[in-house]
Amino acid sequence: MNRSTSKNKLILFVVTATLALLGLFLVKRFEERLSEFLRDRMGGLASRADTVVDVLLLVLLGILAYLFVRALNNFIFGLVFRLRKGFEAPTLVRNIFSIVAFTALFLLIFSSLFEDVNLGALFTTSAIFGVILGLALQDTLGNFFAGISLQADRPFQVGDVITVGQKHTGVVEEITWRAVKIRTFQNHIIEINNSTAAKEPLEVCARDNLNARLIFFNTLYTDSPAKTIHVVREAVREADNVSQMITPIVRIRDLGESGVDYELKYWLEDYAKYNDTDALVRQRIWYAFRRAGLNFAYPTRTLHVERSPKIGVQNGEGGIIVDRLSAVDIFAPLSVEETSMLAQAAVSHVFAPGETVIRAGDPGSSMFVVHNGRVCVQINDKGKLRTVATLNEGDFFGEMALLTGEPRTANVVAMEETEVLEIGHKAMKGVFETNPGLVESLSYIIVERRQALAARADTLDTGNEGPAGILSAIKRFFGLK
Ligand code: CMP
Repeated sequence: MNRSTSKNKLILFVVTATLALLGLFLVKRFEERLSEFLRDRMGGLASRADTVVDVLLLVLLGILAYLFVRALNNFIFGLVFRLRKGFEAPTLVRNIFSIVAFTALFLLIFSSLFEDVNLGALFTTSAIFGVILGLALQDTLGNFFAGISLQADRPFQVGDVITVGQKHTGVVEEITWRAVKIRTFQNHIIEINNSTAAKEPLEVCARDNLNARLIFFNTLYTDSPAKTIHVVREAVREADNVSQMITPIVRIRDLGESGVDYELKYWLEDYAKYNDTDALVRQRIWYAFRRAGLNFAYPTRTLHVERSPKIGVQNGEGGIIVDRLSAVDIFAPLSVEETSMLAQAAVSHVFAPGETVIRAGDPGSSMFVVHNGRVCVQINDKGKLRTVATLNEGDFFGEMALLTGEPRTANVVAMEETEVLEIGHKAMKGVFETNPGLVESLSYIIVERRQALAARADTLDTGNEGPAGILSAIKRFFGLK
């Protein structure tokens, strides 16, 4: 319920209560005069004037009783129940409470106003009427009692994902006295009669339970199972909504016709989002396969031979990498041969959006150039991740650990699909030996980046060496003169 609706309801509540109280006060205050007035006007029915006044009182007290029950209901179920149990009370329970409490209050008021009316006889007469009504409302009453048994058994709650009769799957939105309302993953609302829900087989994935999912994939027979299991487990465990409490399990399911069949079992924090998480997990597996040189198997009985004409290919992949590296500022002083040598040594990796390329605190002996895409540099400041910089195509990162031998100072995370070129210690050492100026410009960049890191996080200790100190540390680490 939105704020303005609840405000309007509150205003209506206060106005009705005030009017009813005022009415009650006036009727009580002028009871005698009102009776006399009615007696004068009612002619033959003058003897009934007192009863009319009592009926008026019954209506006013009935309104007040109704308002009192509503307020009590809101207090008990809206506030106390929520605070003590941590979830909202089902509508069915609230309705039953209101009906019972109101009936009891109403009967109390009725018997105090009409002392001479025998309620027992009234109920006996209405029993016959009740049987007729019961037959007419057979279905409705069936749903009502099925609803009560659902409440008593509590097989599911609002927020759980349920599948009823292997037909309808969705998140439980409401349990009323007539039906269970679920929202499907196509955002449709389905109402299932309580009696149907109580009869059909029910699969419940409770919100506060760690529910698991299975994802299937395969690899070529030439790919090592140990490597596949490690790569997939690591790729999946940090994806959004994958629970950190249980490590995903990857195991061989079958030795299939076209390749090795695997299953991945992972646990979800919020099961209601399993479609998105399954998709994300499959995406992570694809990228991890590509980086690790693993291959999906596809049916091998059909032989596809495809010769595609080479249209518009002017520059090989090697040439594109040389172009990318020579556009990086710090590599500008290098000769064409040196840049080509770096390009040959560079290894390309592709990362999915949100994947971590390097993690703070890990050891590192390589640096990276953003070839396509974008990354952000993040630090952990008092438990919160803060972005300190965004790096685009042609920017580089990872130079700090590579050059100083210290652990990585920050997380670097792909913001979109990103391809990076990784250059290792050996290739950089070769370039440093012939380009001492490069080491110097890098030492200035390291000092600047360290200062930026320290400015963003009070807790981070990045040292306070100047460019000269860093320069001699790099030289020492690389064994340069
Ligand atoms: P390294 O410490 O090896 O790993 C994390 C990398 O994040 C670090 O190297 C730098 O390349 C990069 N980095 C750290 N701070 C900044 C910054 N302020 N601006 C840009 N890049 C940074």
